[in-house]
Amino acid sequence: MNLREYQQLVDSELDRLVPPETAPPETIHRAMRYSLFAGGKRIRPILCIEAARTVSGSLCSALTAACSLEMIHTYSLIHDDLPALDNDDYRRGKLTNHKVFGDAIAILAGDALLTLAFQVLAQLEALPERKVRLVAELSAAAGTVRGMIGGQVTDLESEGKPPDAPLLESIHHAKTGALLRASLRLGAIIGGASEAEYDALSCYGEHVGLAFQIVDDILDIEESSEALGKTAGKDAKQQKVTFPAVYGLEASRSMAEEQCARAHMVLESFGPAAAGLHELADLIVRRKS
Ligand code: IPE
Ligand code: IPE
Ligand code: MG
Ligand code: MG
Ligand code: MG
Repeated sequence: MNLREYQQLVDSELDRLVPPETAPPETIHRAMRYSLFAGGKRIRPILCIEAARTVSGSLCSALTAACSLEMIHTYSLIHDDLPALDNDDYRRGKLTNHKVFGDAIAILAGDALLTLAFQVLAQLEALPERKVRLVAELSAAAGTVRGMIGGQVTDLESEGKPPDAPLLESIHHAKTGALLRASLRLGAIIGGASEAEYDALSCYGEHVGLAFQIVDDILDIEESSEALGKTAGKDAKQQKVTFPAVYGLEASRSMAEEQCARAHMVLESFGPAAAGLHELADLIVRRKS
């Protein structure tokens, strides 16, 4: 299955899971759908589905669980763009949620997507013990202890500080890495992975997660706002602690490649079953948006 087909599959499942715009109160459902269907790459759900496929050979109920990751991710973007956080006007090539619906509804749309993500997992057709593991993984990855919220807090509190390597590692591991690793873990759990397979997919997730945020930092400098669908050059303006700020562009590029190479190596134990994950690692590092 190619990327476009995967994205369409995820989009149609999200459409099924999110209340229609006509459901009252209409405003919140319009706001949730506005950001959800603004054209995200769907990297996290696709990683989840591929992880399940790698260990089980089929999609099982990975598609539905995968959508919970995209809900959390989209919520994190809506809040990340708020004036009190990064204060961005564009996201996924459109005006940001708060620019269209106002701060109050944007905050609530984020809250609603976060809540819906866990409702989706609770209602999944899967063994109860597997569902509990999924909820534990996703909540930890989205949480405060080396999870997404923790990373966002450190990111904000580090603005203007001298960029140093340990600080950078702690921000990137948490704000982006945790959810990317969870994407692989959710797929592993749904696919019934053995402990060794779960560990290998987690390790692959750590490498692609780090590579992903290094590339995000590089693209912020090298690409145009049009190509990115969000305002380029923001990190330097806001004095964010980023890979290029600590190591420079050249070294950052080789570090992303190095993470990619490690991700490929970890997959060796899966043989040809991991072909899709190999492709995704390359895509994450070579992407231009
Ligand atoms: C952007 O994520 C925010 C980060 C965590 C770096 P993506 O680059 O996956 O954004 P979308 O989902 O494609 O819009
Ligand atoms: C955001 O990181 C990570 C999230 C948890 C949303 P960034 O602030 O670098 O993401 P962009 O560049 O605005 O997409
Ligand atoms: Mg941010
Ligand atoms: Mg931002
Ligand atoms: Mg960024």
